Amino acid sequence: MSSLREQIDLQHLPRHIAIIMDGNGRWAKEKGQDRLYGHFHGVESVRNIVEGCAELGVEYLTLYAFSTENWDRPQQEVTGLMELLVETIRKETETLNKNNIKLHVIGDMNMLPDYAQKALSESLEITARNTGLTLIMALSYSSRWELVQAVKHIAEDVAAGKVDPANITQDTLQGYLTTGGFPDPELMIRTSGEYRISNFLLYQLAYAELYFTNVRWPDFRKENLYEAILDYQGRERRFGKTGDQVKQEQETVINH
Ligand code: IPE
Ligand code: IPE
Ligand code: MG
Repeated sequence: MSSLREQIDLQHLPRHIAIIMDGNGRWAKEKGQDRLYGHFHGVESVRNIVEGCAELGVEYLTLYAFSTENWDRPQQEVTGLMELLVETIRKETETLNKNNIKLHVIGDMNMLPDYAQKALSESLEITARNTGLTLIMALSYSSRWELVQAVKHIAEDVAAGKVDPANITQDTLQGYLTTGGFPDPELMIRTSGEYRISNFLLYQLAYAELYFTNVRWPDFRKENLYEAILDYQGRERRFGKTGDQVKQEQETVINH
């Protein structure tokens, strides 16, 4: 039996994978520890999955690390998460660079404490010229926040005469989203047995294949990622067409 990794068809990888990293708190609680212990161990999963994606040749990886709604968690947890974020960024930037990984951040950066903004902008600068995997961290991010921002900016540009409302298309809107330059994720993974989107990339996930696993984020490793990719590769993506049409199109591609 070949390994899971060997079964992956590298010609048909998702270009962009998005992950809702969930279950740190429950993982810790199950071990009789406090929630921050779970977040701390979640960092090891981030490291492992970033490496796994880079090795396979995935082009974009978006990780939902902190939502707009997460600001409402107990102050101690929020502070702990911010400190962990900064510590991780500082420690990992060199590895990102070594592996040619470019960091990108989406979300309301102004909400982050100054020391976190500083660490992030340093890391963004240091990795800016890398050409391998683009690692997109969603921090203080929510999709509704993003859509409101986009609408505001479009309205401003209309008022300034830069945009004609008659010419607004899906591409225009896409360009105003924080993910403007990136393709939509083809695969969205959520760990820890919750079956919801929690305000993540609502527009961009329109045709993503959704994959849910009961594995808690701190236990999620490359093998789990390979399972998700294999599951994705077994699916038929129809985009509104019939299965017969899709098969016909595939045959046409193969015959040319
Ligand atoms: C995900 O794990 C990490 C963040 C949201 C920051 P949780 O902290 O949501 O863990 P659970 O869902 O409470 O187990
Ligand atoms: C979503 O997880 C946000 C992140 C993983 C950063 P939550 O744990 O906050 O989502 P809900 O509250 O269960 O929907
Ligand atoms: Mg959760």
